[in-house]
Amino acid sequence: LRTETLSAMAPVPAGFAADVRDGLLRSGQKEIPSKYFYDELGSALFEAITVLPEYGLTRADERILRRHAVDIVSRLPAPVIVAELGSGSGRKTRWVLEALSRRHPVTYHPIEISATALARCAREMSSIASVSVVGFERPYLDGLLAAAARRVEGEVLLVLFLGSTIGNFDRHAGEHFLRQVRGMLREGDALLLGADLVKSIPAMLAAYDDPTGVTAAFNLNLLGRINRELDANFDLALFQHVARYNEVEQRIEMHLRSRVAQTVLVRGLEMVVHFEAGETIWTENSHKFTPMEIVSLAERTGFRCDAQWLDQEWPFAQNLLVAR
Ligand SMILES: C[S@@+](CC[C@H](N)C(=O)[O-])C[C@H]1O[C@@H](n2cnc3c(N)ncnc32)[C@H](O)[C@@H]1O
Repeated sequence: LRTETLSAMAPVPAGFAADVRDGLLRSGQKEIPSKYFYDELGSALFEAITVLPEYGLTRADERILRRHAVDIVSRLPAPVIVAELGSGSGRKTRWVLEALSRRHPVTYHPIEISATALARCAREMSSIASVSVVGFERPYLDGLLAAAARRVEGEVLLVLFLGSTIGNFDRHAGEHFLRQVRGMLREGDALLLGADLVKSIPAMLAAYDDPTGVTAAFNLNLLGRINRELDANFDLALFQHVARYNEVEQRIEMHLRSRVAQTVLVRGLEMVVHFEAGETIWTENSHKFTPMEIVSLAERTGFRCDAQWLDQEWPFAQNLLVAR
């Protein structure tokens, strides 16, 4: 058993500072990339979201993995090594690793920009017999490159991208990203891709605007993170969490709306930012899919969809894409 965490090449705050500066100075719609939600508090709040009654996504994903992990792994030739993009706590991954480890010892590479999520994932997954964990605190593609470089001849690489994180990319960017992932794989390698499906608008809205206020706290924590790391003075009470469904793009959009006209000081960036009353910062997109859309996305990006598993309780698709 081996647990090891290779630390980041470049510290995240450099990128964070630059992206916050660019996103808040943008004329028109202000915007901060959703990958910055996941500091220590943000990762803990995300874990809380996954157990909210209104957020059926994680339970659906986990139901499919629990029921079908043996079938999923039996479709791959042995031996398999696993890399996971944005593993989070890795709770659902356990089912796949356990199924694989019944066939042979497995090396698992979680790839995370959140040090807290990575540490938790590495700790929990290394408790599975016959699983070695070597995590990478790096962005997705840097981490995948490093993981792919460590495989030995004859090993098949299974990449996990669970929980519909693909939906955080705009559709074109998501397609480009899958092509880049494919570029790091060999023929016969596989990508297990989770995708949340289009469902009733009230159900989708409730999943991103729960009455308990956990998703609101997750969204507002982005301003808290800017206060902590970039010495800003955002008053979180003067911003409101907003979740909207965009029917044309088939996505939930999350924003932070300024309740009043106000000016915020970001000392770390030597910058002041003005907000009109009602003006928003766009913080996340969560695109929703149809099962056929995933099949054709796979075809366009150098994969074929080998199998698809759907959850009936909360429309969600788990897709095994094989590199061709
Ligand atoms: C929506 S959460 C999903 C976590 C987990 N896969 C699940 O299904 O519950 C996305 C995770 O990806 C990580 N992440 C976001 N952007 C990333 C990036 N560019 N590179 C590496 N990790 C990233 C975040 O830190 C977060 O833990």
